[in-house]
Amino acid sequence: MSAPLVYLNGQYLDRSDAALSIDERGVYFADGVYEVVRYFNGKAFTLAEHLDRLKRSLDGIDLAWDADAIAAISDELVQRNGLTDARVYWQVTRGSAPRNHVIADDLVPTIYLSAEEAQTLAGDEPLATISAITTIDDRWHNCWIKSLMLLPNTLAKTKAAKAGAGEAIFVRDGRVTEGGATNCFAVFDGELYTHPANRYILEGITRNVVIELAKSLDIPLHEQAFSSADLPGADEVFITGTGTLLAAVTEVDGKPIGEGGAGTITRQLWDAFVDRVRSDCGVG
Ligand code: PDD
Repeated sequence: MSAPLVYLNGQYLDRSDAALSIDERGVYFADGVYEVVRYFNGKAFTLAEHLDRLKRSLDGIDLAWDADAIAAISDELVQRNGLTDARVYWQVTRGSAPRNHVIADDLVPTIYLSAEEAQTLAGDEPLATISAITTIDDRWHNCWIKSLMLLPNTLAKTKAAKAGAGEAIFVRDGRVTEGGATNCFAVFDGELYTHPANRYILEGITRNVVIELAKSLDIPLHEQAFSSADLPGADEVFITGTGTLLAAVTEVDGKPIGEGGAGTITRQLWDAFVDRVRSDCGVG
């Protein structure tokens, strides 16, 4: 559930008092970018990485705004809402102007942040498990930009939900790219595979942490796309993301993965991930 206070253009407001202009380009054209950041124990996890990616996304759509300012706003929003473990949504849109495809030079960006309570990692949190479906990846070719233009993702995730699944795994030209709101990993013969960070996926911050952890655990890692046809034969599949953290995929398109539970490498990475969060954010 969303926390009562949000931030909009310099003000901390009750959610019900916050309003955007009808001429907001974020509404007309999805003309904006966003981030979702996790707080544990009152501290933002991988903050520098989120700021860096926000700057890359802003550059990617030619939106000039000093993104560094958002960190202090985000911290204050979490504090004002009395949260310690939270998911914070950052959104920067181009601003407001009568509908015109051509972007005017004098627009003032709209900055909006909201927060919601999220799971702590202070106890004995189990690794989540979910089922997934595969679906065609018909998104644009700039998925590295964390754009607001998420209609294909929302349609794919709704298709998954209607099939009783927790995530939709995108397939482009026969290869797995990523999930609707996550990155996707698979284990074949004890080696870990995930799509390379190019224009066909969002370079997930959680993905990159997991890659670092796999390297430190000496798990062979290939940033190499794998075929969706091979997915049912994978020993393990898991997804990563700021919302999900890490979840074992136990079934794809109705077929069980491995033994149908979380696999060894997935568990090992989850334990290492929890340790990393706890040491970075001073949990416990
Ligand atoms: N989604 N791929 C896509 C398409 C995503 O939307 C996300 C994140 C990820 C994972 O990135 P990260 O590990 O940096 O969160 C990969 C966010 C959480 C969302 O849209 O809510």
